Amino acid sequence: MTNTGKIYIVGTGPGSEEYICPKALAAMNQSDVIVGYKKYIELIEPFIKGKELVSSHMKKEVERCQEVLDLALSGKHVSLISSGDPGIYGMSGIMLEVVADKAPEIEVEVVPGVSASIAANALLGAPLMNDFAVISLSDLLTPWELIVKRLHAAGSGDFVVNLYNPRSKKRIMHLNTAVEILLQYQSPETPVGIVKNAMRENQEVTYTNLGEVLQHDIDMFTTVVIGNSFTQMINGKMITIRGYKK
Ligand SMILES: C[S@@+](CC[C@H](N)C(=O)[O-])C[C@H]1O[C@@H](n2cnc3c(N)ncnc32)[C@H](O)[C@@H]1O
Repeated sequence: MTNTGKIYIVGTGPGSEEYICPKALAAMNQSDVIVGYKKYIELIEPFIKGKELVSSHMKKEVERCQEVLDLALSGKHVSLISSGDPGIYGMSGIMLEVVADKAPEIEVEVVPGVSASIAANALLGAPLMNDFAVISLSDLLTPWELIVKRLHAAGSGDFVVNLYNPRSKKRIMHLNTAVEILLQYQSPETPVGIVKNAMRENQEVTYTNLGEVLQHDIDMFTTVVIGNSFTQMINGKMITIRGYKK
């Protein structure tokens, strides 16, 4: 019988080394090979030494998981990395599905990471103090009609809304529609935080409001946090009031 390796599905956090959990660093250091999308490999390359690094392309997720599985079946320990947390629009789900289908006996461990919304929350103040919804505006894998339905549900439920994938070169108008929908439920003065490149090079933090958010430069490296009826700007920070008595 041949020995198989172990698969770690690792969240590498928003970008810089200090925001990677020690357990994630340990998993990568215990691996023979680290596999991930090129940009994420570039982010960890400066501080993970002596490992075989395999960069893969966007939109080849299933092939990437198959490659990871083949490496583990050949006896190697492999880390499959995702930025932020691997279970939030990352690689955990598809990797676990591929293992379940093809080699359920392989040992898999998911190592969490600091997701973009958690990083943005810290940089902005405390906008996620109460119930919030996370919605991706990418309709590559989710039909746009369902995204629209979820935006209405979040708006009518007075959730703070955290948008991932707010805008790409091809997907320009989705954010405009999202803002139009949320304006049906929240006032134009509702505080909004825009965080670009959180906790990595070229970080930008901008405060605006729902009426003016579209005037700002928002791209696919940005997370947008839209307050609810309890969100206020206090002492230069965005805070969703939870109701503690002073
Ligand atoms: C495919 S999702 C991956 C999310 C990732 N798994 C996480 O937990 O943060 C990509 C989106 O996450 C957001 N994002 C990821 N890293 C970010 C960062 N450092 N700063 C701001 N937004 C980020 C952006 O909205 C980007 O379009």
